[in-house]
Amino acid sequence: MAGGGMIAPSVNKGYPGKFTGRVFITCIVAATGGLIFGYDIGISGGVTSMPPFLEKFFPDVYKKEVLNIGGTNQYCKFDSQKLTMFTSSLYLAALVASLIASTVTRKLGRRPSMLLGGALFLAGAIVNGLAQNTTMLYVGRALLGVGVGFANQSVPVYLSEMAPYKYRGALNMVFQLSITIGILAAYVINYFTAKMKSGNGWRYSLGCAGVPAIIFVLGSLCLPDTPNSLIERGKNDEARKRLQNIRGVDNVDEEYNDLINASIESQKIKHPWAKLFSRKYRPQLLFVSFIPFFQQLTGMNVFMFYAPILFKTIGFGANASLFSSVITGVVNTVSTLVSMVTVDRFGRRGLFIEGGLQMLICQIIITVCIGIKFGLNGNPSELEHWYATLVVVAICVYVAGFAWSWGPLGWLVPSEILPLEVRSAGQSINVSVNMIFTFFIAEIYLQMMCAMKFGLFIFFAFFVFSMTIFIYKLLPETKGIPIEEMAEIWKEHPVWRKYVVDENEKPTGTLNIEEINITKEG
Ligand code: BGC
Repeated sequence: MAGGGMIAPSVNKGYPGKFTGRVFITCIVAATGGLIFGYDIGISGGVTSMPPFLEKFFPDVYKKEVLNIGGTNQYCKFDSQKLTMFTSSLYLAALVASLIASTVTRKLGRRPSMLLGGALFLAGAIVNGLAQNTTMLYVGRALLGVGVGFANQSVPVYLSEMAPYKYRGALNMVFQLSITIGILAAYVINYFTAKMKSGNGWRYSLGCAGVPAIIFVLGSLCLPDTPNSLIERGKNDEARKRLQNIRGVDNVDEEYNDLINASIESQKIKHPWAKLFSRKYRPQLLFVSFIPFFQQLTGMNVFMFYAPILFKTIGFGANASLFSSVITGVVNTVSTLVSMVTVDRFGRRGLFIEGGLQMLICQIIITVCIGIKFGLNGNPSELEHWYATLVVVAICVYVAGFAWSWGPLGWLVPSEILPLEVRSAGQSINVSVNMIFTFFIAEIYLQMMCAMKFGLFIFFAFFVFSMTIFIYKLLPETKGIPIEEMAEIWKEHPVWRKYVVDENEKPTGTLNIEEINITKEG
């Protein structure tokens, strides 16, 4: 069977409208929600490798790591249940919060969820920065997690709805860009706080999470809600004005009418959760579940959470480890820019597939390098300079592959394929699945490394291979299609059309099937 996405539907619609400064600023402000998520991902690895932090909260790990008590197996020295719980507890909280956020986002609008997310995250940062015991540490993490759950549920949807459809890819990806900036900022802060003589560096690292939270809260206070959400809540006149405002033209009739139609369809649905599980929404359900699952199973967060630990494990000194993490952070941010400039031109599928192949090759190289040096007992021989450089380069090329494919697309594609009636519910599934598997990776990585040794990277390579095939076969191209017309793309897809075409049901939106052009790619 040919890859389903080789057929690219294009809709004969071109809503009038410009790429206005207003929409640009609005999207930048909203996307700062990614900063809090990113900061969090980047900070825990560095903090959990700081001896004063370990000594205060995790004395067992401190003994193994700093005092070298309990064997020299490098694969296992950071393996501690309590330590991983510190990193991963946040994602459990985020998972639960994103489910609650679905209702807030649908009933009250995207903005209240964003505000709440920022405020709770701020509270978590304060509790963590002042932590005196592990309970405070975990409570702080839980608050941060609830904040992330609300922000990640609402921000990608907000961006996809605000953006003119031709630039939706790039504008949505500002969210991922700010995730990567958050991660990088955290790495840089850790690099400096780790050197603080007072032993309180970790407090600054954790407390500084308040800075992106304040930026996000202040930003959300100034933001307008999306026209789609205003119409969903019956504020039609305000929505039309908002649309004129953000599109920079007076005649927004066509887009406005489509939003109204989408909203009429949406109002008919009383139980969006139940609806999402019906046959008609099978493709959307599959993608909002599998895209975040695969995104995490790329293994990217092994590097993001544990880069300093990983670099230490393969024999780098403390300083070199933190410095190498900063390098991977820079690569992550810069490569995201690449996908922002290409995604609306070349499409989502090409980036997904290229990024997947790139990660796969790098994972094989990393496996061979670590395998040769550490063998099965985890005791390396002397680390030569060329060897260390090769590992760092392979990791950087891998990170670049993720950063222009599964990273940003993992947030973009789910948020743009969901019809209005199930958008909030579907986005919650996206966030929850993402958080479950972020949790899973954070929880078991250190144990997996201890048990599977260098084979760990082959485990992730297997998933990268599978996800690349998955995209090739099943995902239609979504570039350049207005968000409320997206329902049409499934009707022309060889696998999905039997699920979505229903003679008795009028399609969502005003578009007729005859209006769709089918073009063969390549
Ligand atoms: C993922 C995170 C990951 C980050 C790395 C995001 O899209 O959801 O789990 O740490 O990208 O840049």
